[in-house]
Amino acid sequence: MSTLTAAYQKRVPLSDARTLHTLNEFAVNIMSIRNTSDLFWYVAQNVVGRLGFPDCVIYEADPTQQNLTQVAAWGEKNPFGRTILNPMVIPFGKGITGRVAVQCEPVVINDLDYEADYISDTAPARSEICVPVHIQGRIVAVIDSEHPDDNAFGASELEIMSTVAAMISARIALLEEVERSNGRYNDLVQSHVQLSQEIDTRKAVEAELHEARRMETIGQLAGGVAHAFNNLLTVIGGNLELLELEQTGPNASLTDARIASDRASALVQNLLSFAQCRQLKPKRLQLFPLIETVLGQIEKSSTRKSFDWEHIDACWPVWVDRNGLELVLLNLLTNAHDAAHSPDGVQIAFQNISLNEMEAVTIAPYLKAGDYVGITIADDGPGIPEEIQNRIFDPFFSTKKTGLGSGMGLSMALGFARQSDGALCLGSQTTSGACLKMYLPRALPQQADTDTLSFVNR
Ligand SMILES: Nc1ncnc2c1ncn2[C@@H]1O[C@H](COP(=O)(O)OP(=O)(O)O)[C@@H](O)[C@H]1O
Ligand SMILES: [Mg+2]
Repeated sequence: MSTLTAAYQKRVPLSDARTLHTLNEFAVNIMSIRNTSDLFWYVAQNVVGRLGFPDCVIYEADPTQQNLTQVAAWGEKNPFGRTILNPMVIPFGKGITGRVAVQCEPVVINDLDYEADYISDTAPARSEICVPVHIQGRIVAVIDSEHPDDNAFGASELEIMSTVAAMISARIALLEEVERSNGRYNDLVQSHVQLSQEIDTRKAVEAELHEARRMETIGQLAGGVAHAFNNLLTVIGGNLELLELEQTGPNASLTDARIASDRASALVQNLLSFAQCRQLKPKRLQLFPLIETVLGQIEKSSTRKSFDWEHIDACWPVWVDRNGLELVLLNLLTNAHDAAHSPDGVQIAFQNISLNEMEAVTIAPYLKAGDYVGITIADDGPGIPEEIQNRIFDPFFSTKKTGLGSGMGLSMALGFARQSDGALCLGSQTTSGACLKMYLPRALPQQADTDTLSFVNR
């Protein structure tokens, strides 16, 4: 009798108290094992070993049900720790383990000398017990134990091994279910995140669309009113001119009427600008000389003299109406100037920018892809409170005291920028103050310095 045989207590009935105790302990312990590798090693070393089998090798089946790989062992194959000597891979159908995997039935071989299929591992054996671990017919593993003597395994061993296999199978099925539900949970979380993002994007697009429609409606209304008033003011202005010609001396009422009529005309022009109904003559323009002119005008009429602005090398020429742009810059700079805290609190910056379609739409829904010069006007004033940010471009919206603001500056600037195929929007408020950014289209090389009439009512 070999040493292995001596160590092996043959005929261990399942009802034996020690065996039942081991199996019971096993059933409890495997509930806390969280992966199949730990489970296989636990079974090979702590269960089969303690149940008196001389050795044990566990083969794991691959998901495609083609090969069995030795993944855990106890006995000669396992010299120390989680090491397997010469781990073998056996195809489904080959040898006794391969046959058990295909037939999904346990076998006990009493004498391997008469077994043609036997593949000898470390040392040739005489008896073998081999049990499949399956989940609804799908093989997940095969447990195999060999013995150097013939007729070493009987009904008890088969019962013990089958019980162990059933427990492993139940635990693996549970682990797989946990993995599946984790996967489903992660999918759900992912879908939820995606859905939330989609809802946010839809809301933002809807808000933009709503804002665009609102501005369009106000624009149409303003355009209609401005046209009608323009006609009336032409008649009033003409009649005032006739009356003025007939006057020999100063006439206060007539002067008041003239001042009121001129102010009404300026307002109507601003309204026409907002409605994008101005007659514009775009030209190829260099911005720096124009800025100098506008700053000169403001400085002449103001006590604050300092504007901080930076030249950039090779600022692209733009394609816009000079008078319109002067007026717009005057309005934007006056706003910044009025709001600034410190005497040099207004900063003007220029930037050559190439925008692709995505970038352009992010700036303003109406802006097209292309080359632009960006003019940023920032100040160190109180900034524009969030609750009025979507109203500042409305005609006649002003937070200034009566008489100090008409509320037409930003709306005419927006209309002008849009009619010029550019954009006007709030820039990122990095400092405490306000920041407005205008995009003007770069003059193309073929756009020479000739006057082109642009009179569009969009
Ligand atoms: N630089 C700025 N800082 C703070 N608020 C500003 C600035 N520019 C514009 N605003 C806000 O936008 C409103 C509308 O501006 P605008 O159309 O130019 O009209 P107005 O200057 O006649 O009030 C202003 O009344 C003000 O509330
Ligand atoms: Mg203003």
